[in-house]
Amino acid sequence: MAEMNAISRFFVNRSAARRSRRRLRWFQATAEVPPSAVCLEIGSGNGEFADQFLTAFHPARYVATDLDPRQLEEARRHLLKRHESGLPATLELRPADMTALPFSDASFDVVFAFVCLHHAGATHRDFSRVPIALGEIDRVLRDGGRLAYSEILHQEAIRAWLVKHRYELSGVERRFRVESVVARKPRTVG
Ligand SMILES: C[S@@+](CC[C@H](N)C(=O)[O-])C[C@H]1O[C@@H](n2cnc3c(N)ncnc32)[C@H](O)[C@@H]1O
Repeated sequence: MAEMNAISRFFVNRSAARRSRRRLRWFQATAEVPPSAVCLEIGSGNGEFADQFLTAFHPARYVATDLDPRQLEEARRHLLKRHESGLPATLELRPADMTALPFSDASFDVVFAFVCLHHAGATHRDFSRVPIALGEIDRVLRDGGRLAYSEILHQEAIRAWLVKHRYELSGVERRFRVESVVARKPRTVG
């Protein structure tokens, strides 16, 4: 999917702080994260959720990724206003396409994907590449790890993909057009 234009980026980033506070409250009520957790966020936008999550959960490492280098630059600029002496050592900002994640298998305990899975396709309405992104998330998640996501499109098809791959769904919340879900990857038996 092509990168967002300047107007879309402006509107997405403008209300990120309020949205992130709400997402954090929802996630805190749904799932526990040990301090040793290694987290990945795809389509991380201006980095607001990453920073709020780091403050609340203190994970061992949080890798915030986005396809668009301008969003990563915006995230760096935005977060440096809050962290004048430098970004937290546990936070890494790096480019990544959700359909070809540059990470090893089973390397994350939690993956966050907020309103970005529908960007996998050639157009927002095109579901055909969303399973590729879900497959990549599944590959980089450890057994028993969690995917926490919000979506405005393809909600039923995404849930169906996760159920087919034996994910356990919890924390399902619908707010206006947005559905949020925490999905736990099955543990391999044996
Ligand atoms: C609607 S914005 C959401 C940003 C952030 N998650 C939030 O909720 O504020 C979608 C984000 O996905 C990113 N994106 C688009 N295509 C992507 C891809 N193939 N891989 C990773 N990120 C992508 C965009 O650059 C943008 O930052």
